[in-house]
Amino acid sequence: MVDMEDAQALARLLRARRSIRDFSAREVPAELIAAILDDARWAPSWSNTQPYKIAVASGELKDQLKTELLARFDAAAKLQSGGLLGKLSALLTRKGLPDGDFDTRFEYPKELTPRRRATGFGLYATLGIAREDSAARHCQMRRNWEFFGAPVVMFVFVRQELGAYSILDAGIFLQSLMLSAQARGLGTCAEGALATWAGPVREAFDVPPAYKLLCGLALGWPSDHVVNTFNPGRAEVADMLIPEKRG
Ligand SMILES: Cc1cc2nc3c(=O)[nH]c(=O)nc-3n(C[C@H](O)[C@H](O)[C@H](O)COP(=O)(O)O)c2cc1C
Repeated sequence: MVDMEDAQALARLLRARRSIRDFSAREVPAELIAAILDDARWAPSWSNTQPYKIAVASGELKDQLKTELLARFDAAAKLQSGGLLGKLSALLTRKGLPDGDFDTRFEYPKELTPRRRATGFGLYATLGIAREDSAARHCQMRRNWEFFGAPVVMFVFVRQELGAYSILDAGIFLQSLMLSAQARGLGTCAEGALATWAGPVREAFDVPPAYKLLCGLALGWPSDHVVNTFNPGRAEVADMLIPEKRG
């Protein structure tokens, strides 16, 4: 039976969900985390293979991961700004060098670059960070590896053998998780940044080797920080529709 209340509630949730980049310190009860995961497991997947696994960290483990990942981020920053000696030492110790399962740095297609730039500039403008203030931008970037102060961080792993389709399945799972969180008043931020360094996550969790780190997710109660008011908007439906060939 069609239930218009369901349709309206879903439309509201889809529109109201925003990436949350500042969280209150309030903990998320374990039952709530369990309930969100229980909702998300109903996501559809190729042949119902459900080719993903999730690692969840809160409390001390989350703090330990934050420390390890920030050390990688800081070492990488030093590597970029340092001279030849610093680069050599980084190469020898491999500290800071990305060890993720997927490459998170890529050339953006020209057609998509304006959206990417508008999102970045919009975020910094919301925070009052000037375009040329690279120190402030660096600090904001670093917040990714603090999980933006979230009390819970999740890591999504996928099997690669299904190619693009396992990634697609994991994406559907992720959105299901984010909407379930949204429905319960929680905030989330999907974090591709958290796929840059897999080592600390593999050290903390017993991840089956066939599962590759795809993405992270910060989860918690949104704070009233101005950053959470940022809404990058969307292209119109007409912009994504592919026209028929004429003639
Ligand atoms: C797969 C994926 C990876 C993302 N990675 C990051 C990230 O590393 N850091 C970040 O601040 N936001 C990240 N985001 C959030 C996007 O920037 C955000 O979804 C987009 O700008 C639209 O904004 P909204 O989520 O508030 O609607 C990611 C989103 C997705 C779906």
